[in-house]
Amino acid sequence: MIIQPRTRGFICLTAHPDGALQAVKNQIEYVKSKGAIKNGPKKVLVIGASTGFGLSSRITAAFGSDAATVGVFFEKPASEGKMGTAGWYNSAAFEKEAHEAGLYAKSINGDAFSDDIKKQTIELIKKDLGQVDLVVYSLASPRRTHPKTGVAHSSVLKPIGQAYTNKTVDFHTGVVSDVTIAPVENEEDIPNTVAVMGGEDWKFWMEDLKAAGVLADGVQTVAYSYIGPELTFPIYRNGTIGQAKNDLEATVTVLNDLLKDLNGKSYVSVNKALVTQSSSAIPVVPLYISLLYKVMKAKGTHEGTIEQIQRLFADRLYTENGEVPLDEAGRIRVDDWEMADDVQAEVDKLWKETTTENLSEISDIAGYRKEFFNLFGFEVDGIDYEKDANENVQVPSIE
Ligand code: NAI
Ligand code: NA
Repeated sequence: MIIQPRTRGFICLTAHPDGALQAVKNQIEYVKSKGAIKNGPKKVLVIGASTGFGLSSRITAAFGSDAATVGVFFEKPASEGKMGTAGWYNSAAFEKEAHEAGLYAKSINGDAFSDDIKKQTIELIKKDLGQVDLVVYSLASPRRTHPKTGVAHSSVLKPIGQAYTNKTVDFHTGVVSDVTIAPVENEEDIPNTVAVMGGEDWKFWMEDLKAAGVLADGVQTVAYSYIGPELTFPIYRNGTIGQAKNDLEATVTVLNDLLKDLNGKSYVSVNKALVTQSSSAIPVVPLYISLLYKVMKAKGTHEGTIEQIQRLFADRLYTENGEVPLDEAGRIRVDDWEMADDVQAEVDKLWKETTTENLSEISDIAGYRKEFFNLFGFEVDGIDYEKDANENVQVPSIE
């Protein structure tokens, strides 16, 4: 079957397995080109391992440090004339490449928020690896069914207090317009968003893993956060999602206590704004990313998820002297190049000038679009999209 992209708003309904395989191979090649990560992790659990930062974390651990990986995600295989999801094809590609390289890689497909998937994951670690020395927590989800109360929480992306008006772009059409986003009105919106994207589930995972004895001495765990520029504060850091990120960051202290007797450490890494399935859903942010990419590419400091995570492992989590550089709030910062004063000053200036007419000239909207399609295996260099795709791709070691 010939597979073409089919989009609805910021969602792509189809995915291309051969493009996904090539994109995963490109990430693997990048990690290998950077050389072995000294003192890197050996047995790694990645929660949210199929796309975005989580997939890059799994690839970096495996191909930068020869690590055995267990990946947890929520994806769909192909069925009855319907394509599988991008994360399914990515995971099939990752396992294929890992197995060919002689690396252990198994995956668990299901709801990571549930007690049942935690239990299955623990059993798999016990059976095959004994313990893990790194746990990466990289879930991004619009909803979570709470495992103790059964309540289904939905997150919202809204400002708090007052409406927020700014520029936004429809990245398919290139039309720049003003958008006004009303503030939260329902008082449950904030706690619901915190329940989905805050730190409670990360804590539940670490508590269960510890209680089962599957965390190694000196274990590390890392989750991902975002801050960004002032212009997105109302919709991001000071909005509902920012409340969840505050909660996630506060969980570090709780987990450091939990892991103390294992000499373990917990971290939040603040990462750069990048095109992923999650970030394309946030108003205003895609336009900011298009301008940011333009400026950072011109300066030679642009990174994608794989460059970010390779740097996180090599220059932050696994440094030569074992010290992890942190900011004044105790966070790892790999958004340092994004937040550099010169970068932000240029983005600010371009932001004020951006119109539909000059968009393709002053922003990297073309790069944004290409990366968006790349997430689903489309527009990947070297793939012949006129050829039948290899559609019935399986993840070989799915539990
Ligand atoms: P993504 O959408 O690419 O990845 C989400 C992952 O979570 C996928 O593997 C998906 O299968 C998995 N997942 C979602 N719901 C699940 C469930 N119920 N059970 C099991 N797996 C589930 O997202 P992305 O962008 O990589 O985000 C990961 C983290 O990085 C998030 O905390 C996000 O806030 C953070 N981050 C993202 C930035 C960006 O610009 N994209 C910037 C900085 C941080
Ligand atoms: Na991820």
